[in-house]
Amino acid sequence: MMPRVLVPSRPDVLPGTLVDWRRILARHYKRLSRTSRLRRFMAALPNSAMQVIADRASPDIVLGIEAGGRVVGVLEIFKGHDAHAEIGISIEDAYQGQGFGRALFLDGLAAAERIGVQTADLFFASENHGIRSLVSAAGGEIQQRGAECEAHIDITHCKNCRKLAADTPDQGAAKVLH
Ligand SMILES: CC(C)(COP(=O)(O)OP(=O)(O)OC[C@H]1O[C@@H](n2cnc3c(N)ncnc32)[C@H](O)[C@@H]1OP(=O)(O)O)[C@@H](O)C(=O)NCCC(=O)NCCS
Repeated sequence: MMPRVLVPSRPDVLPGTLVDWRRILARHYKRLSRTSRLRRFMAALPNSAMQVIADRASPDIVLGIEAGGRVVGVLEIFKGHDAHAEIGISIEDAYQGQGFGRALFLDGLAAAERIGVQTADLFFASENHGIRSLVSAAGGEIQQRGAECEAHIDITHCKNCRKLAADTPDQGAAKVLH
């Protein structure tokens, strides 16, 4: 059998309203493995909890990245005060390690800046090498707090993010859910 070569689609803001976003988020969360749920939510939550989290989610922007005609990864931006935001990102397990996360993350930071976000935080387990790598590439500072990490990214100083996102049009870009 020929190996399957996947090229991430261009990420984009997801269309629709908050109701549509929540439906997509619920589907996406429930497709994540136990390990990915642990990494995304710091707990291996059951489907019922995934549904509750999706139903209560109020992100300012959701970007999605598609493969096979459906959303396989999402990046949520929760804008707070003082041009600050929290970001959550996850890619379905079968699509991890193939560049989807990087494409989504770079476009997510660019989208955050477009809505006035200057700094962003991410929280993750210290053994989460994938997100560590993405944060480091964006020039983020990572502080270890026991088994968990807190990352702080100054998006205004991440000129490379915008350049990389622009330079890799078909290496992945996300769909913004509006
Ligand atoms: C973290 C995550 C979003 C990364 O997305 P991805 O599509 O797997 O990542 P990419 O293929 O774009 O790779 C990005 C970098 O992570 C590294 N990486 C990805 N998976 C890895 C793994 N399991 N172990 C070590 N490094 C890994 C890649 O090598 C790459 O680094 P490099 O460019 O320095 O080589 C994805 O793995 C995921 O959804 N994990 C579960 C949820 C989560 O951890 N969310 C983050 C907390 S909010």
